[in-house]
Amino acid sequence: MLIRDEIDRDASAIRSVVTEAMKLLPQSSGAEADIVDRLRADNALSLSLVAEDGGEVVGYLAASDAQIGDVTGWGLIGPVAVLPSRHGEGIGSALIAEAILRLRAGYKEAALVGDPGYYGRFGFTAFPGLRLGDVPARFVQALPFDGSEPQGELIHHPAFGLEQKA
Ligand SMILES: CC(C)(COP(=O)(O)OP(=O)(O)OC[C@H]1O[C@@H](n2cnc3c(N)ncnc32)[C@H](O)[C@@H]1OP(=O)(O)O)[C@@H](O)C(=O)NCCC(=O)NCCS
Repeated sequence: MLIRDEIDRDASAIRSVVTEAMKLLPQSSGAEADIVDRLRADNALSLSLVAEDGGEVVGYLAASDAQIGDVTGWGLIGPVAVLPSRHGEGIGSALIAEAILRLRAGYKEAALVGDPGYYGRFGFTAFPGLRLGDVPARFVQALPFDGSEPQGELIHHPAFGLEQKA
């Protein structure tokens, strides 16, 4: 399996992987593939990683710029998706490990909104002052690379607003 940057011809395979994976999430808005397309159209994908196996896209991870409170320079990971038939093979972990490695090089910290049961293993954790609207605080997580404590509202690209309309 290979983790690599997205190339032009991946866009429709990425849509399929994201759509199929998100069907399993009860809280999914169904808009996640649209969010990726919108981020791409706005040139806002700071990371767009695919997991390729046997020539097929089996996993995907996006990251985009974010701000927490007054502090810019956060890399927001999401969505992360693995083809349901390939879950539990370490594909999601490989994508996240590569994303953390890349974000460490260019960002102060990484953040995401997701299940702490999964993302805790990569060092992500909730912080008392970190929030995102009415999302339960334990799902809003950060991995500060410099040991700082994120404080305030997580401000992300407007593409994520597509979720509210679905
Ligand atoms: C979450 C997801 C990306 C993980 O991908 P994956 O390739 O199956 O993950 P890995 O193989 O690296 O890790 C599997 C491990 O994570 C665990 N895991 C997966 N989702 C989990 C969750 N929501 N909470 C706790 N543990 C979880 C599995 O039980 C497994 O545990 P084990 O290592 O003890 O056996 C994938 O399950 C997926 O696409 N899910 C639907 C979309 C989604 O939830 N995206 C994340 C939010 S944007």
